Amino acid sequence: MIMNGKKGLIVGVANAKSIAYGIAEQCHKQGAKLAFTFLNDALKKRVEPIAAEFGSKFVYELDVNNNAHLETIADKIKADLGEIDFIVHAVAYAPKEALEGEFINTTKEAFDIAMGTSVYSLLSLTRAVLPVLKEGGSVLTLSYLGGPKFVPHYNVMGVAKAALESAVRYLAHDLGAKNIRVNAISAGPIKTLAASGIGDFRMILRYNEVNSPLKRNVSTEDVGKSAMYLLSDLASGVTGEIHYVDCGYNIMGMADIAVDENGNTILAMDAK
Ligand SMILES: NC(=O)c1ccc[n+]([C@@H]2O[C@H](COP(=O)([O-])OP(=O)(O)OC[C@H]3O[C@@H](n4cnc5c(N)ncnc54)[C@H](O)[C@@H]3O)[C@@H](O)[C@H]2O)c1
Repeated sequence: MIMNGKKGLIVGVANAKSIAYGIAEQCHKQGAKLAFTFLNDALKKRVEPIAAEFGSKFVYELDVNNNAHLETIADKIKADLGEIDFIVHAVAYAPKEALEGEFINTTKEAFDIAMGTSVYSLLSLTRAVLPVLKEGGSVLTLSYLGGPKFVPHYNVMGVAKAALESAVRYLAHDLGAKNIRVNAISAGPIKTLAASGIGDFRMILRYNEVNSPLKRNVSTEDVGKSAMYLLSDLASGVTGEIHYVDCGYNIMGMADIAVDENGNTILAMDAK
């Protein structure tokens, strides 16, 4: 069990479909001891039984935009677990209207909310937990291809993910001196609560399925298993990386499925 003796904080479980759930599940399987956070009272009822499922009774309220929550999190972790080995940051939010229509119409308010909650929170959370994060520790966040490339409807979240990936590199440099690693997994599309806010998400899922080399979509289990590498000592020499877990979709320079002159979907290699 590669996470035996490791302890970590999982931020971003909303329900059993969350990517953070898939990561927590694998952490538990591999022997890690966990603490969890919940955003609000409605989610507390969901997160507590999930924590119990993974052998944890340590569940803290944490809105990443609330300074009082951030200021007290390290003391809570210290009291319950002592020093920890890793943080999973699986948090993102943008107002729904910013994920529909054209990017050019994004309001300043929606832009600030998306950047604050989805990008700045990686810095503020890491800084808040740093006093109880061990040397040799690991921080992991979740990105998406809509950051480095255009993806329909992803809009301001694309800009946020691009900034998040840059933040991973800057944080990796800062924390490298403490031998703490910072990496991201860029996951393929998965039907979660956060994803339900993205327009035409079913189309995005289908498109990725038919056009990825593995001809399927990723599961939270796929992401969780890859997270074990980045969170454990197996990746002791890896930091500042964006690791794709997307059935290979990001390597495609041309789609397998194309549209012919009559509007029918066909294999791209059969297109004349
Ligand atoms: N689902 C996908 O297709 C996909 C693909 C690539 C990356 N991601 C990323 O994975 C991460 C997890 O998302 P998910 O898809 O599992 O959805 P999810 O809805 O299950 O998780 C998002 C989490 O963010 C939390 N959150 C939102 N605002 C918060 C705040 N102010 N303070 C604290 N927590 C807050 C929510 O409570 C929730 O637990 C996100 O960063 C998302 O962008 C998702």
